[in-house]
Amino acid sequence: MPIIANRTASGKPEQPAIQITDVHLTLASTAGPVNILNGITLAIPKGEAVALLGPSGSGKSSLLMVAAGLEAATSGRVAVAGRELTGLSEDALARFRREHVGIVFQAFHLVPSMTALENVAVPLELAGVTDAFTRARRALETAGLGHRVSHYPGQLSGGEQQRVALARAIVHDPEILFADEPTGNLDGATGAQVMELLFALKARSNATLFLVTHEEALAHRCDRTLRMKDGLIVADSADVPAPPAAEGVRPLVARASGPHAAGDGRVTR
Ligand SMILES: Nc1ncnc2c1ncn2[C@@H]1O[C@H](COP(=O)(O)OP(=O)(O)OP(=O)(O)O)[C@@H](O)[C@H]1O
Ligand SMILES: [Mg+2]
Repeated sequence: MPIIANRTASGKPEQPAIQITDVHLTLASTAGPVNILNGITLAIPKGEAVALLGPSGSGKSSLLMVAAGLEAATSGRVAVAGRELTGLSEDALARFRREHVGIVFQAFHLVPSMTALENVAVPLELAGVTDAFTRARRALETAGLGHRVSHYPGQLSGGEQQRVALARAIVHDPEILFADEPTGNLDGATGAQVMELLFALKARSNATLFLVTHEEALAHRCDRTLRMKDGLIVADSADVPAPPAAEGVRPLVARASGPHAAGDGRVTR
């Protein structure tokens, strides 16, 4: 696990944007309990762009839901944007999401009976923000949709709908942006435009980005790549391998790897 060395001006170590410690998630199903997350420990520093890859069913969306405060972990600790989410009530979690995170899903999730402007403004208004409509209009302009504010989702293309969803995700200046396959329902060219916008919005606010994707090319644009399998993180590009021993210097202990590795530095035969 990487050591988080970022420090604040006072010299104190900076808290990660996301700190997940030994998180398990088990959900009930008709066939009995399903173990979905099996002990995830992860720290994501502020401002980092992280891509989460893995086969279908490996638990990517579930991990995003837990980190975004949409799903409570069965056990373990989740601290996001300096807030401990463990044990929070539904209301407290909703308030946390409204204040600290922006979330974009593959399926847009816009309210069909509301205009683009209302879709972005209403959550803000419900949170008691007085200039909700002004801010929503500005967010839609940033997303390149200033000319579509009065359109209903059904009158917008898929790419435009996802831009509305992005405007809604950033209108309150969240510290962390979560995106779950945000281009999964879009054609290649439209998806590329939406991703450009997502990365631009991230850069503009220096938000932390947690991006679930199946696309290696998108993962390469992120600072760090995590890979999941069977509810576990099985690879983390931040885990830098130890440098090889200098030329002519024999290591005291052979570095073990492959099928003969005993896992503790010994090499078995
Ligand atoms: N509400 C639920 N009840 C029971 N099992 C669930 C529930 N939601 C998800 N699962 C199971 O949890 C596992 C992980 O699901 P998840 O949606 O997190 O996978 P994913 O990696 O996001 O997959 P995909 O790439 O297809 O989106 C799957 O086996 C899924 O069937
Ligand atoms: Mg998923």
